Amino acid sequence: MKVMVVGSGGREHVLTWKIAQSPKVDQIYCVPGNGGMAGIAQCVALSVEDIDGCVAFAKEKEIDLAIIGPEVPLVLGMADAMTEAGIRVFGPNKKCAQFEGSKAFTKEFLLRHHIPTAKYKEYTDYEAMLKDLGIYGYPMVIKADGLAAGKGVLIPEDEASARDAMKEIMADKKFGTAGDKAVIEEFLTGTEASILCFVDGKTIVPMESARDYKRAHDGDKGTNTGGMGNYSPNALFDDPALKQRIDTEILTPIIEGFKADGMDFVGVLFIGLMIKDGVPKVLEFNVRFGDPEAQVVLPRMETDLVDIMEACIDGKLDKCQISWKKEKAVTVVLASGGYPNAYQKGLPITGIDDVSGCEVFHAGTALRGDQLVTNGGRVLCVTALGDTLENARQKVYHQIDKIQFDGAFHRNDIAKI
Ligand code: AMP
Ligand code: GLY
Repeated sequence: MKVMVVGSGGREHVLTWKIAQSPKVDQIYCVPGNGGMAGIAQCVALSVEDIDGCVAFAKEKEIDLAIIGPEVPLVLGMADAMTEAGIRVFGPNKKCAQFEGSKAFTKEFLLRHHIPTAKYKEYTDYEAMLKDLGIYGYPMVIKADGLAAGKGVLIPEDEASARDAMKEIMADKKFGTAGDKAVIEEFLTGTEASILCFVDGKTIVPMESARDYKRAHDGDKGTNTGGMGNYSPNALFDDPALKQRIDTEILTPIIEGFKADGMDFVGVLFIGLMIKDGVPKVLEFNVRFGDPEAQVVLPRMETDLVDIMEACIDGKLDKCQISWKKEKAVTVVLASGGYPNAYQKGLPITGIDDVSGCEVFHAGTALRGDQLVTNGGRVLCVTALGDTLENARQKVYHQIDKIQFDGAFHRNDIAKI
């Protein structure tokens, strides 16, 4: 088989690494890929937003399976374009990708199908929104409706900063057209958890659980990021009563809702939850693997990922047995100094070859000649498996400082529980 992976982050590197283990796969192309994927696949210099270019490439190479990693091409309709061109594709169509492309779309779906979530109101008019300052009290949760690279959620603590937040989103258009519409939500408290699920339109199957660390610095300090580390499984899900509630109150109504609304969702649904006193509520949907959730979930997967993806495309997920390793997994992100704000690119990276007992997944790297250099905010993810979480954690932290580039930093408290 010839497989094409669209994307260039740590998520796409681990997807490529896992796909490369399949005996069915002969050749992998990564579009555009990164310095790490270049070692196991052929990288192709096309933008993930170049739908026509990616489809033309898939046709030219007679790709048997296209896997779309990031949300942007999914929201732009790359899956539909691939399908129209006769290419088998793993990743939801444009209609289903609205679950990530529009916060209001997801809230309407959740309400329509009686799935527990925070109260909300949506707005297209700035003045109308201003009138609702503090409607659910403070802190307020104000979200740009569209894609904003994870930055479009503002949680002001008081009226003055809520006014500023509304102005930023709806008047100043800080997130561009993503702020043409915005929502206000009730502020939920509790513990956050995410569940990644395979979906084939009729069946939803949760993967092993994971725990993300979103803030930049130790002790959950600093700005929100795309994720600074992760571990799997998440101890929160050891509780069978919670598992049962998630199944009956969240997963079943979601798949029934997809069927009722004619949403033929094929791919990964990432469900962000807030759990308080054993009661789960949905915060958000994403329509792809999490990054860096994928870097801990996929190394624990025993089953051939290609088989699962093909089962999703063929609507046969219910026939697919997915098995998992007992070992625990930890990943720690090595980031560029300054991330998630401004940072430098093009800095030489050394020491990766000295790392042992861990997998190093590249997130933002590029090759400049033979030299590996930084090319993003999250640069590398160091992942280890272990019999216990602590064991996996020690393996990562004993190795990570062998890798060096100017300004590199990482959290020290990932999986410390
Ligand atoms: P989202 O992208 O919608 O998940 O929002 C990003 C982050 O904002 C979440 O991971 C939560 O930490 C926080 N958040 C979003 N919605 C709410 C809410 N209704 N109540 C409390 N925190 C929230
Ligand atoms: N790590 C969170 C995300 O992928 O959205």
